[in-house]
Amino acid sequence: MKLERVEDYNEMSQKAAEAIYDKIVNSDRVVLGLATGSTPEKMYGILAGMLNENSVDLSHVYTVNLDEYVGLASDHPQSYHHYMKNIFFDHVPIPPENTFIPDGAATDLDAEVKRYDRMLEEIGGVDLQLLGIGRNGHIAFNEPGTAFDSRTHVVDLAETTIKDNARFFNTIEEVPTRAISMGLDTILDAKSILLIASGEGKAAAIDGMINGVESADMPATVLQRHDDVTVLADKAAMGKL
Ligand code: GLP
Repeated sequence: MKLERVEDYNEMSQKAAEAIYDKIVNSDRVVLGLATGSTPEKMYGILAGMLNENSVDLSHVYTVNLDEYVGLASDHPQSYHHYMKNIFFDHVPIPPENTFIPDGAATDLDAEVKRYDRMLEEIGGVDLQLLGIGRNGHIAFNEPGTAFDSRTHVVDLAETTIKDNARFFNTIEEVPTRAISMGLDTILDAKSILLIASGEGKAAAIDGMINGVESADMPATVLQRHDDVTVLADKAAMGKL
């Protein structure tokens, strides 16, 4: 893994936006794997600004999101559909038909995970996958215990994840307990991976991911198997290395 240490959240956001911008403007066709959470929020704002300032055409850009809560309609304020629209898609000229997010409101979840994997195949795979990391070492919603050979699947969220994400909901009871997530093996299919992290709350997970032995207890260690991963993190998140 290539490590890029930056000063703080702002610099992490700026550098990540530049990396994705470069990928977009230097490709004839590109599939971006996108992540949600608080970590990439500022990055999306900066990226949208750069794209608009330079009037970049986005008709060659396709996006596939990692995950979505089960049971939230796409217009629910805490759904990842809503997050993506609100934070990025509504601000850039990306054709809506080029954007893909698992449907957490699907009535047949088994069919939905199969549909998503089929779509990933048809779209030709992810060129650049953006990732955040959970405090417990999860990537996307692949919680500790997830098989390394998992494809898109329905997951039960870990207690720690529900607690961490409760800050976005009015009460902890409102936090969904399940999600649809690309699997660990699905994520490894990406040609290159950019993982971003900020703050000392992520320091143990970053250390475990880089220096720990490969283990399902720390799902992010699966990235040790990939030969093109960049970890872009601030001093605080790299504080335990
Ligand atoms: C969430 C998401 C992940 C994200 C992680 C960290 O639950 N499913 O994709 O990377 O947890 O979130 P945050 O960036 O808010 O710390």
